[in-house]
Amino acid sequence: MYEQYYIEKEKEIKLDEMKPILSRTDLKGNIRYCNTYFQEISGYSEKELLGSEHNIIRHPDMPKIIFKLMWERLKKEQNILAVVKNRSKDGRYYWVTTLFEIKHHPIHKTAEGYLAIRKAAPHNAVEVVTPLYKKLLEIETTQGIKESEQYLREFLEKEKKTYDQYMEEIVNHEGVVMKFLHGMKKMFIY
Ligand SMILES: Cc1cc2nc3c(=O)[nH]c(=O)nc-3n(C[C@H](O)[C@H](O)[C@H](O)COP(=O)(O)O)c2cc1C
Repeated sequence: MYEQYYIEKEKEIKLDEMKPILSRTDLKGNIRYCNTYFQEISGYSEKELLGSEHNIIRHPDMPKIIFKLMWERLKKEQNILAVVKNRSKDGRYYWVTTLFEIKHHPIHKTAEGYLAIRKAAPHNAVEVVTPLYKKLLEIETTQGIKESEQYLREFLEKEKKTYDQYMEEIVNHEGVVMKFLHGMKKMFIY
């Protein structure tokens, strides 16, 4: 038991709390920009990342429903906050709080792509979402995504919160995380 825990821990990449992990995609989700910290943590070179689909860093522990929610929001031109487990090229993982946003054309103001601004996820948020994602994934594998969506809806109803309120509560303590993410966005070179 102890050994298993140790191995699990070893595979986690310890993120620098102060460094954002940034990326921008086109409307299809193909990577068009990523900062150097993204490259360092993911283990992929800029050459490998640019033009690739963003699922290149998808971790198999992530339930599909979270990305479905995310895409539905982005298509409606709404932002969304999520806790995401990603996988690096060498198979290690890292948890990030991610703000997904629309990127508008500076002049025409039409949507021209999407941004993801990430930082290390708080430990308590990871502890809360790990069993939830595990359950959602299990439902997806055995029953399907409709059922996992239903489970998530009921889970939130029991919590008496919307998805956004729930995220606010677990990752965005007193708005501090959003301030950090928005602050980092200003430094975003795109
Ligand atoms: C701006 C942006 C950033 C994204 N960042 C991630 C990410 O960090 N990790 C991830 O697994 N998927 C990310 N995605 C979602 C992927 O495009 C994809 O939908 C997801 O990995 C699920 O892949 P699948 O449909 O092949 O299962 C991002 C999408 C966008 C538009």
